Amino acid sequence: MSYPIELDEYKQQVADLYSHRSSNYDDGDWHPRIAHRLVEYAQLSQGQQILDIATGTGMVAIEAAQIVGNEGQVIGIDISTGMLEQARRKVELLGFCNIEFRLADAEVLDFPLNTFDCIFCSSALIWMSDLLGALQLWHQFLKPGGLLGFHAFADTAFVGGTITQKVLEKYGVSLLFSKPTGTVEKCHNLLQQAGFEAIDIQSEQDGGYISLEKAKGMWTGNGSSPVPGQYPNPILQLSSEQLAQAKIEFDTELEALQTEQGVWNDITIFYTFGKKAA
Ligand SMILES: C[S@@+](CC[C@H](N)C(=O)[O-])C[C@H]1O[C@@H](n2cnc3c(N)ncnc32)[C@H](O)[C@@H]1O
Repeated sequence: MSYPIELDEYKQQVADLYSHRSSNYDDGDWHPRIAHRLVEYAQLSQGQQILDIATGTGMVAIEAAQIVGNEGQVIGIDISTGMLEQARRKVELLGFCNIEFRLADAEVLDFPLNTFDCIFCSSALIWMSDLLGALQLWHQFLKPGGLLGFHAFADTAFVGGTITQKVLEKYGVSLLFSKPTGTVEKCHNLLQQAGFEAIDIQSEQDGGYISLEKAKGMWTGNGSSPVPGQYPNPILQLSSEQLAQAKIEFDTELEALQTEQGVWNDITIFYTFGKKAA
């Protein structure tokens, strides 16, 4: 089965952003660690059918494929050809036969109803144009009793993003970033509205202190990259003079947050699960 892939300008920008990042996306241990944690919470079994939405370089899909074994099947979908290339390269090296990657938009999938035992969306839900609509769509593809699991980051997470938001608010720019899923309550409500039950959300702190220099490098206010859930990027309303001034204010805010250990970079993660009624 293959899906036509027609992307609007927002999604094309997101796909290009991740294709550009794809060759070094797996660097470091942070992404693999949180992907592993999501799979671990799901307690998969041999023989299950798994869908990994916005699979990226396939971290969740590959780990799931190891667990479900050759009796099971994993499909990973993504809009970024670059990310999928990396995923396919890894699977080829591993020689797995129970995993397949497809170029597809998570919001226009047409799998048969009641197909999957588990659907994951790791670190990607906020990129959807319509979060609730996406969750409702994915709910249909789960078998009765099937499990959906996603990560969400608290609205306090990532000091670069939260301070960028705070500074740009003064210039009339309101960025969503993690706000739509930024609290346990918001995650719970979204899943409930989408028809899920037995909702279980585990909150974990994955943050740490970072250097002031690193924090200053986390300025996301230059408008050159797409921002989650907003198109066109509202930062583009600002002039280069306003952005230069906002960056100075961003640095000043961070300097005020510096402690002996550095700047605290909160990364509160919600491992969020819900089931389709049995
Ligand atoms: C932060 S990466 C997460 C990748 C992977 N799930 C992981 O945990 O490492 C976000 C991914 O979402 C994908 N993405 C964003 N919007 C999408 C959409 N509408 N449909 C499918 N994939 C999408 C991007 O291309 C990118 O690979």
